[in-house]
Amino acid sequence: IREDPAAASAYIAKYIIDRIKTFNPTAEHPFVLGLPTGSSPVKIYQILVEKYKASEISFEHVVTFNMDEYIGIPREHPESYHTFMYKHFFSHVNVHPKNIHILNGNAPDLEAECVAYEAAIKAHGGIDLFLGGIGPDGHIAFNEPGSSLASRTRVKTLAYDTILANSRFFGNDLDKVPKMALTVGVQTVLEAREVVIIITGAHKALALQKCIEGGVNHMWTLSSLQLHPHPMIVVDEDATLEL
Ligand code: GLP
Repeated sequence: IREDPAAASAYIAKYIIDRIKTFNPTAEHPFVLGLPTGSSPVKIYQILVEKYKASEISFEHVVTFNMDEYIGIPREHPESYHTFMYKHFFSHVNVHPKNIHILNGNAPDLEAECVAYEAAIKAHGGIDLFLGGIGPDGHIAFNEPGSSLASRTRVKTLAYDTILANSRFFGNDLDKVPKMALTVGVQTVLEAREVVIIITGAHKALALQKCIEGGVNHMWTLSSLQLHPHPMIVVDEDATLEL
């Protein structure tokens, strides 16, 4: 528990840097990092970029896999997760373009895209650290309430609450928010060797309570993290209101 979102973000950024340094990645043995979008990780990316510019960390031998991407908006759309990742992170650090993996929501065969994504994660030896956030309903990536806890990368129809929450990025116009997405599954996240989650704000206090004090439940998909051997949830004080 940290005082505010800035302190929680600083803690996670330092943690990720320490993990990469301890791992000591090489071209033959890169560090595989799972990455999220959303407003919660923005400050984490900002700190990682600052530390890169201060030569305190290199991403030369880091391979990344993003959690999810919208279906039905072009890659160049200002709110695509592709655009988000380049704007906040990839354009400012030395992650090699060939090491960046983001699901293609415009792939001609979406099922094949999902199968290939899982295969690419496997080919890289699995994910070393998956960073994530949650929605106010406790969803991780786009694993909406009711998702199978055994789910893998797939097409997902977004829940009304998620469309509503994300409408703030689309001029508060529900019609403009994509209704479907590609997302890694709950099981894909659980297979990472380590999972780190940031949760901040009173609007996520109920989700935090359900996910860590309630039972493992597919209506609050982050609760599956209780089954993981190396999970960490970093929160601000506001998010603890229901604990
Ligand atoms: C979307 C993303 C999630 C993210 C969530 C919360 O649903 N697919 O990965 O955790 O938004 O976003 P925010 O951090 O803006 O609350």
